[in-house]
Amino acid sequence: MKKEELIEIIEKLKENRDLSDAEFLALLTTDEEEVRQHLFECADNVRRENYGTDVYVRGLIEFSNYCKNNCYYCGIRKGNQKVMRYRLTEDEILECCKEGYALGFRTFVLQSGEDPYFTDERMISIVSNIRRNYPDCAITLSIGEKEHDSYQAFFDAGADRYLLRHETATKSHYESLHPEEMSFEHRLKCLQDLKEIGYQVGAGFMVGSPYQKTKYLINDIRFLQKLQPDMIGIGPFLTHGDTPFSNQPNGSLEFTLRMLSILRLCFPYVLLPATTALGTIHPLGREMGLACGANVVMPNLSPRRVRKLYELYDNKICTGEESAQCRGCLEKRVASKGYQIVTDRGDVKKS
Ligand code: SAM
Ligand code: FES
Repeated sequence: MKKEELIEIIEKLKENRDLSDAEFLALLTTDEEEVRQHLFECADNVRRENYGTDVYVRGLIEFSNYCKNNCYYCGIRKGNQKVMRYRLTEDEILECCKEGYALGFRTFVLQSGEDPYFTDERMISIVSNIRRNYPDCAITLSIGEKEHDSYQAFFDAGADRYLLRHETATKSHYESLHPEEMSFEHRLKCLQDLKEIGYQVGAGFMVGSPYQKTKYLINDIRFLQKLQPDMIGIGPFLTHGDTPFSNQPNGSLEFTLRMLSILRLCFPYVLLPATTALGTIHPLGREMGLACGANVVMPNLSPRRVRKLYELYDNKICTGEESAQCRGCLEKRVASKGYQIVTDRGDVKKS
């Protein structure tokens, strides 16, 4: 496709018009440097129209690396016997929140593997304690697949948001990333349940995951168009040496940036993090992500001693820092691109 035609497609996206699959494919596959730059600039403009130069921070608390699942890509999968497993206590989690609040965080993201130790009862206790202590903060959960009534109970206890990446909207692809006991349909049902309950919902996927095809990414966009999530978490797939995908190549920085900018144009209002995986694949990956439409960063609030143990992929960054250092470092990185971190719950701005 000619350069002019590609620019025309970007204009369509900017005007919030839908694209055909062929048009998405053309944007996803073009080698034209000028078109790529134009895409990034347009995404940044749309982000500025909706969120100005504000960047929202989420304090990420990785409270357990136990997991009953065996996702082929993930470093903390059950089958990886080399991982030293840990769990934070409720008091330790609350301590992370206390430290985070003092550092200006108004969203706490509680993330873990699917750890059966954290029963509904335990999660309800943790969520309601955070809710009581920090009524002005948002509580985000990212603890995997549950049944409707559990999601409802966490919501009633005070959780506002839930992150559950769909991973891929293509069933056959889902099945090549997960063992038989995991179900594509159940993952999608979880997202539907979360929406119905009233959570602000985050879906998402890895860019460049093994066996991914460009047409699957178009399915992902179509899926997101139907789901209309409040947040979309994407980052490059990164290899972990102790998983069945140890020989698979990393996803690409360039392609992740391109995907970020397309998502910003398709979903002008959405909360889009510049992920740790993006910062791991390139030292300035998160800054580049911010310049392509991302408007959220998620520094780590977990105690330093456990950070290295929550290793989803090799060479994860920010495992040696204290929370305050992590916050300060990100502040500088964000400022280097002309944006600023704000002390705010950072809710989605949907009209
Ligand atoms: N257990 C929860 C869940 O399944 O949603 C939350 C934790 S899970 C580790 C969070 C996300 O990490 C996954 O949805 C996946 O997209 C991402 N992830 C896992 N392994 C990865 C890898 N090797 N490279 C990049 N991202 C990865
Ligand atoms: Fe459970 Fe990755 S396999 S968190």
